Amino acid sequence: MEGGRGNLGSEVPPNEEGGSGGKHGFPPVRLAWPDVGAEEAAAVAEVLASGRLTMGPKVAELERLLAAACGVEHAVAVSSGTAALHLAVLALGLEPGDEVIVPAYTFPATANVVALAGLKPVLVDVDPVTMNIDPAKVEPVRRTKAIMAVHLFGRPARLEELPTVTLIEDAAGALGARRQGRPCGGIGLVGCLSFHPRKIVTTGEGGAVTTNDASLAEAVAQLRHHGWKPPELADLPVPGLNYRLSDILCAVGIPQLLRLEELLAARERIAAGYAERLAGLPVVLPGADEGDRHGWQAYVIQVERRGEVLESLRVKGIEAQIGTYALHRLSAYADQGPFPGADRAFERALALPFHTRLTESDLDRVVEALTAM
Ligand SMILES: Cc1ncc(COP(=O)(O)O)c(C=O)c1O
Repeated sequence: MEGGRGNLGSEVPPNEEGGSGGKHGFPPVRLAWPDVGAEEAAAVAEVLASGRLTMGPKVAELERLLAAACGVEHAVAVSSGTAALHLAVLALGLEPGDEVIVPAYTFPATANVVALAGLKPVLVDVDPVTMNIDPAKVEPVRRTKAIMAVHLFGRPARLEELPTVTLIEDAAGALGARRQGRPCGGIGLVGCLSFHPRKIVTTGEGGAVTTNDASLAEAVAQLRHHGWKPPELADLPVPGLNYRLSDILCAVGIPQLLRLEELLAARERIAAGYAERLAGLPVVLPGADEGDRHGWQAYVIQVERRGEVLESLRVKGIEAQIGTYALHRLSAYADQGPFPGADRAFERALALPFHTRLTESDLDRVVEALTAM
């Protein structure tokens, strides 16, 4: 349906919480539903009562838990996954015009931060099955200063097959995922996480930069807070931003991080429930390489006539979504290509409702609707 017409087929950007309902007579099956409740509410109330709403103890606590989850020395909490990517790129201190390799099929923020840092995002095609960057297509040149590898939808990318260039992991959807036993977000020089409501751990909006490199972590923390470098009081030595994450939002994330394993196990059960029901249908199911653990940010199948299937699900009140964007189909990156792998992923990827409140009958309803196509 969308062939050659750009990234159509969705009323809201695909990192939003839901799609459209429809006149179906049933309650909608929601695309996403954050696993937050009384514990998070109590934690927020505690912060409000403390009067320390930002730069307080909850930021440090969240950062400690994130560093442990990613197996790194440092985590710096920031206001979004996009902010994390932006600061990671800025902190590398690259020269204008330097090139950064970015997969052609990803959420646009991955490439946008590179362009906004005055660098050149060079798109590389993805494997149409894994939907992650295809290491065989990566050909670094002299100006290539970094590779931005995305663990798309939580599926660990084959990082060890990439050439040895500075590696930034876009682990926006991969908190909890493991590549050959190693936590995603802790493998490259720097990792970037998102806590948007479709992610396994959410703070509403939020993100973090993870790294073992102390000076990089310091540079990110400095850029996050107007360029301030403690303990200096009178000077802000470099221009910086305000990309801080408030204590209120950190308090929302902490209880979820403490039950990360439980949250991932619940998402694995939902994924298995889909896989069982979808067996035998003409769809490609999501999965991870042998030895990896999928992070299950989203459950993204691949189908023919994706646009029609998406529309028919929505009419039945099932809030499905497109997967993500083929960047060369966006005006901002239309000068690069062709990328047949990204085209194929874009044209076929379909995100099904995916969250821990889905019931067996919700799964039945989604799969019955798919079967009727
Ligand atoms: C792969 C990827 N990178 C970056 C981002 C940006 O994260 P945020 O929405 O928290 O800014 C997203 C968000 O969906 C994403 O999926």
